[in-house]
Amino acid sequence: MSDLPLTRAPAHLRQGSSIGQPVTRHDGPLKVTGAARYAADHHPAGMLHAALAVSSIARGRVSFLDLPAALAHPGVVAVMTPANRPALAEDPDAKTHPFMFRMDVLQNDRVRYANQPIAVVIAESLEAATEGAALLAPRYEAEAAQADLAAAEVFTPPAVGPGHPAAMAHGDTAAGLAAAARRISVTYETPAQYHNAMEPHAIVAAWDGDRLAIDTPTQGLAMLRGRLAGLFGLPAENIRIRSPFLGGGFGSKGLASGPLVLGILAARLVGRPVKLVLRREQMFGPVGHRAPTRQTLELGTDADGALTALRHHTLTATSAFDDFIEPASNASHALYASPAIATSHAAVRLDTGTPMFMRAPGEAPGSIALESAMDEMAEVCGMDPLEFRLKNYAETEPMSGKPFSSKALRECYAQGAARFGWAGRPRAPRQMRDAAGLLVGWGMGTAIFPALMFQGEARATIRRDGSGMVEIAASDMGQGAWTALAQIAADSLGLDPARLDFRSGSSDLPDGGIAGGSAHTATAGAAIHAAGAETIARLAALATADGRSPLYGAGNAGVIARDGRLFRRDDENRSESYADILARAGLAEIAGAGSGAMEPAAQAGYAMHAHGAVFAEVKVDPALGQIRATRLVGAFAAGRIINPRLVRSQYYGGMIWGVSFALHERAVLDKRSGRVINANLADYHVPVNADIPALEAMLVEEHDPHVNALGIKGVGEIAITGSAGAVANAVWHATGYRPRHFPITPDHLLGAPG
Ligand code: MOS
Repeated sequence: MSDLPLTRAPAHLRQGSSIGQPVTRHDGPLKVTGAARYAADHHPAGMLHAALAVSSIARGRVSFLDLPAALAHPGVVAVMTPANRPALAEDPDAKTHPFMFRMDVLQNDRVRYANQPIAVVIAESLEAATEGAALLAPRYEAEAAQADLAAAEVFTPPAVGPGHPAAMAHGDTAAGLAAAARRISVTYETPAQYHNAMEPHAIVAAWDGDRLAIDTPTQGLAMLRGRLAGLFGLPAENIRIRSPFLGGGFGSKGLASGPLVLGILAARLVGRPVKLVLRREQMFGPVGHRAPTRQTLELGTDADGALTALRHHTLTATSAFDDFIEPASNASHALYASPAIATSHAAVRLDTGTPMFMRAPGEAPGSIALESAMDEMAEVCGMDPLEFRLKNYAETEPMSGKPFSSKALRECYAQGAARFGWAGRPRAPRQMRDAAGLLVGWGMGTAIFPALMFQGEARATIRRDGSGMVEIAASDMGQGAWTALAQIAADSLGLDPARLDFRSGSSDLPDGGIAGGSAHTATAGAAIHAAGAETIARLAALATADGRSPLYGAGNAGVIARDGRLFRRDDENRSESYADILARAGLAEIAGAGSGAMEPAAQAGYAMHAHGAVFAEVKVDPALGQIRATRLVGAFAAGRIINPRLVRSQYYGGMIWGVSFALHERAVLDKRSGRVINANLADYHVPVNADIPALEAMLVEEHDPHVNALGIKGVGEIAITGSAGAVANAVWHATGYRPRHFPITPDHLLGAPG
């Protein structure tokens, strides 16, 4: 997609290590040859097929299901309803921590959103199960559904996202706005969006007495196992989850979902293995979505264009029965310097499924609003948008006042702008046309995403033959985690990657933490790094304490591990192979464990974020209003780059979702029925190849000594931020029309926003 050379780590970091190398993903050949077995590819002996029946109303109760008709259908084995659904050990509506959400698993006849599961039909074939579900012909006592953001009662949520404060402030924004030489107050609207991973939610569940084996795609093996252990009243070790491949997750496979639990319950009911795969339209309800937002930004500047105040308020929606509040205003905490910043959130309750973490939750909608507002303010100040952002560059984190652990945003701006050719941009809109007469516009946005870490563990082993093994229950949802983590693993054990056996994707391995929050490589990588170091230290202790070893007396700190050997630091001619050390000690193998988590001291002392700058070109047909993104350049700084090929691929993905946010994705909720009326991939637009132009993702060098031992910041979600706003701002620059409703569609440009 780009002719830029892959950035490599400097030579001294590369020696003897695969960290920094553009290794191709290990799972690539398996995927392109069809050899990769996804969850739904499993067919244990005796397996039955389950199909969900889902509600067609958004609120009320199920008053009738034609069970005799479904049960009489050839091949149907059972119909699971609230009447015969096996018991759970725990209330599925209970909540004990911020990563726990209520689920609909046939606990009663209530309907709380459209597409809610109301029965499960289990049959000998998928066809029979599907036909049986259709024969249920449900009847309802329907109640009026609330599906209109504008009409519902507004409340202030106690928390946003996973337990963050709903409002934060520093300085006096009222005074800052009053004293401002220039000010704007603008409101932006973003729509509901659905994750729409390529692979639908799927489970194959098999019980053996009180032991449960499941195949299902999950972004968090240990967390899912813990949730299921609670729901089913089993010791966690009785549950084995396999999740070697995911066809995308985007947050919707982070936590246990209702349909997943229903698959397990169905297998319990019939005493045979059961497969349950959601149909595409069934994913518009019970497996999460991004809530719509209405965001109001008030900005004030002095006469020179320095911000005097920044207010960011978000109105969003959660479900009628649970709380997930999209933390969009938090996008304004860490990016632009202002003596006064206030962020706040309010919400309404709609009769929809509960919103969920989705592709930069908070940051993505917050960023398109903030970057649009910054562009509008730059225009009011008569400044170039990049110059305006540099004028308001934050040297410390604005909301907290903490220093940044590292921040190479200036370099991102400079390198991205140079590569894009930003310097040639006319200030005023509607100044550029291409040879075909299309309006051409250039816009930019700043990218930012917090460098997060969760908790994870890993185990490393060196074997008698000199090979190594690293085990961790990590999730590769297509981002290339296994490849990058295997690189860290090989580095941690001082082995050529070809000598390393990397085991992952199963819940009986050490907890690798959740693949979310762009934190997986940092968390799992830190755990692997620690496990490798512990193993090498044990091996070194064997050698340095043994008079027969050439390393005798060197001390643990006096050796380095490389290419399957330990070398004396002070004399690299004295070394010994791992195999020789273990052989002399009479050991078959030596192992170590390690864990990874954010260092509390680092977290207390520093603001930790990845940054970037995105520049976009669009072309607009002035007669038709048709918009095409034609060129995007992103420059990102995210600490240590483990694998530049995979990181660049992550940036491409984020930039594509940014274009999608600006121009494509929108779920349309029917205000009368509460149903998503475009619940399919024909009408819910995600970009295809033809929608996406040449992308360039530049890897800007950044060394972070604080964020974690390996200096890794996340790269999964950052590129959606900045990109969406850059495209929106380019549309303004092309046309003079200021987008405030997303996605931007041709009718907006023809003067009829709707
Ligand atoms: Mo991501 S929305 O943290 O899976």
